[in-house]
Amino acid sequence: MATRKKKTKVLVLHGPNLNLLGTRETDVYGTATLASIVEQLGTLARELGVEIESFQSNSEGEIVSAIQRARGKQDGILINPAAYTHTSVAIRDALLAFSGPIVEVHLSNVHRREEFRHRSLMADVAIGQVLGFGAASYSLGLRALAGVLGSD
Ligand code: DQA
Repeated sequence: MATRKKKTKVLVLHGPNLNLLGTRETDVYGTATLASIVEQLGTLARELGVEIESFQSNSEGEIVSAIQRARGKQDGILINPAAYTHTSVAIRDALLAFSGPIVEVHLSNVHRREEFRHRSLMADVAIGQVLGFGAASYSLGLRALAGVLGSD
């Protein structure tokens, strides 16, 4: 009997204010809405043979809980922690308790911006970061993660 390989699952997490994409500081973040980014990622995921689940929250605790729920269910995490990147020990600790690979993405190049954005509490927890490419940071990040998970 032929055995079908289980689909690789990736949780895509979006932090605070990313629900406003398309209308928020468009000179920094571009005009793509979160819905259009998620739709594009869905198309790419199908191409890569990956199943994605997407979740946005403005609340730190909800993001921590989503990461906890992913334990044993998702193979990898693609995350834009937004402002929590620079402040959240709780999200960092939740990511440390997740055993699969994590890729951190940012629309903007945080190193070209205010100094407080230069530090990421997630950087060394992630296998890599993709930043500065606008909406394309997400697709580049998903490709990289799928490659690491062996499903590209
Ligand atoms: C961001 C960069 C963060 O510094 C900022 O707080 C965001 C978005 C980005 O995608 O460029 O909300 O994560």
